[in-house]
Amino acid sequence: MQQPTNQPADHFGADVAPTYDENAAAMFEAGAIDPVVDLLAELAGDGRALELGIGTGRIALPLAARGVPVAGIELSEAMVDQLRAKPGGADIPITIGDFATAEVDGTFRTAYLVFNTIMNLTSQATQVACFRNVATHLEPGGTFLIEVMTPRLQSLPSGETMQVFDASEDHWGVDEVDVATQRSVSHHFRKIDGTFELRSMPFRYVWPSELDLMAQLAGMTLRDRWGGWHREPFTSESRQHVSVWEKPAG
Ligand SMILES: C[S@@+](CC[C@H](N)C(=O)[O-])C[C@H]1O[C@@H](n2cnc3c(N)ncnc32)[C@H](O)[C@@H]1O
Repeated sequence: MQQPTNQPADHFGADVAPTYDENAAAMFEAGAIDPVVDLLAELAGDGRALELGIGTGRIALPLAARGVPVAGIELSEAMVDQLRAKPGGADIPITIGDFATAEVDGTFRTAYLVFNTIMNLTSQATQVACFRNVATHLEPGGTFLIEVMTPRLQSLPSGETMQVFDASEDHWGVDEVDVATQRSVSHHFRKIDGTFELRSMPFRYVWPSELDLMAQLAGMTLRDRWGGWHREPFTSESRQHVSVWEKPAG
């Protein structure tokens, strides 16, 4: 079997982290955060929560403010610097490392990986390793939640590789897709001080059924799959899913 490679590249360094919150402003609005925190607080109950790719604390800080003890794993020290500078940010234990392999002290009632971040692992082997790593950190009966987009291949004509996913005055987003490897590169053309700058980031898209198999390899089973944070039904029209797998209680 293909083994996970070395530490992945950090695409959220000092050139990205200071403007992350501003560039993802819609994701920081109460309407985007509250249902996430509601669901995660329910899954955590009176236990601890572990966020993979904790970033600048978009979800971890409001979840901790609800009284849930939260810990995080994060590759980018620059993102953690942003988190630490926010109220409550100094109190969250964070392990710097790759969430596919990093070890964190103790066990957790729930672990979560939101905002498409499973796709930052760019091989099937590392995505499988992530599920296995989470399983070792969960207490019996604990859960693992992922929020990720569904692959947008229905709108990619045969032979085409480029998909425009955003076209606004200040930002154009174009995904370059390789269906043979499930790899993609998201190209962001963003207007900064009147000039468009290009930033590109690699991903690996992943099917819901493939994630279920990864969970099975890690000894977990699917408990819930919704089409969004308001627990909408997951259908063939769903553009994303929120899925929860469970480690056996015994
Ligand atoms: C899209 S941001 C999401 C941040 C935060 N979870 C949120 O919802 O705003 C992805 C984050 O995951 C981190 N990340 C990506 N791959 C990682 C890996 N293999 N191990 C640890 N952190 C990783 C990035 O550095 C970045 O902070």
